[in-house]
Amino acid sequence: MRKRIVAGNWKMNNNFEEADDLIAGILDDIEKAGKPDDIQVVLCPPSLYLELATDMLLDLPVSAGAQNVSQFEGGAYTGEISAQMLASMDVEYCITGHSERRKYFNETDEQIAQKVNSLLSESITPIFCCGEQLHEREVGNHFKVVQEQLSKGLFHLRKEVFKKIVIAYEPVWAIGTGVTATSGQAQEMHAYLRGLVRDQYDDLTGDETTILYGGSCNSKNAADLFANPDVDGGLIGGASLKPGEFMSIVRSFHN
Ligand code: 13P
Repeated sequence: MRKRIVAGNWKMNNNFEEADDLIAGILDDIEKAGKPDDIQVVLCPPSLYLELATDMLLDLPVSAGAQNVSQFEGGAYTGEISAQMLASMDVEYCITGHSERRKYFNETDEQIAQKVNSLLSESITPIFCCGEQLHEREVGNHFKVVQEQLSKGLFHLRKEVFKKIVIAYEPVWAIGTGVTATSGQAQEMHAYLRGLVRDQYDDLTGDETTILYGGSCNSKNAADLFANPDVDGGLIGGASLKPGEFMSIVRSFHN
């Protein structure tokens, strides 16, 4: 079955105390107002706070995710964190291929594919990001860009393994800009992405793949975006840093 997910990507924000407060605030909100059973909530704090997150979320219906993983299995890679380490901390999800990592850390499709493989070998669900830059959309290249990203980063996987993948469509021009994709633009791209998965594997795999939208998604526009048949939730940046705002995005499915 296709899952519905709302994941918060905190990026490089919050000190330890603020991270503690943010998780506590989300849990407090859930205790008071409940969480829809059919929505999986995932918090992706900086790696340094993953232990805090997995401890606080133990036995609760909220999962912890990492923002990055090394493409290497282990050994002399100063500063890196392996998929095995994440798995040993009960981390269930990990973002890969985010445009900020592609841009600022020169991550290539090949490295991203290796990261996907490492995560899958540790049974961690990759949240695989794809999305075009503004100039690529302006010349009508947006479909080709995401097609290449999926083909190089994901389509080496066998069907049985691919079933664990979550895709996040994040148009780069919408990230942190306040310019959200329109509901129509999101649905059009999500339907295209689902079609690519159908063509690569089969109809069932396409139908069951969870595809999230990310890019200036907030409590005001989430209901509109999530109402689309091919939008299965969101990967939320800035708006995931406030408990009330984040939880009202989680509840937007039912508005
Ligand atoms: P914003 O929600 O801040 O635009 O960030 C989106 C994002 O990059 C999530 O991964």
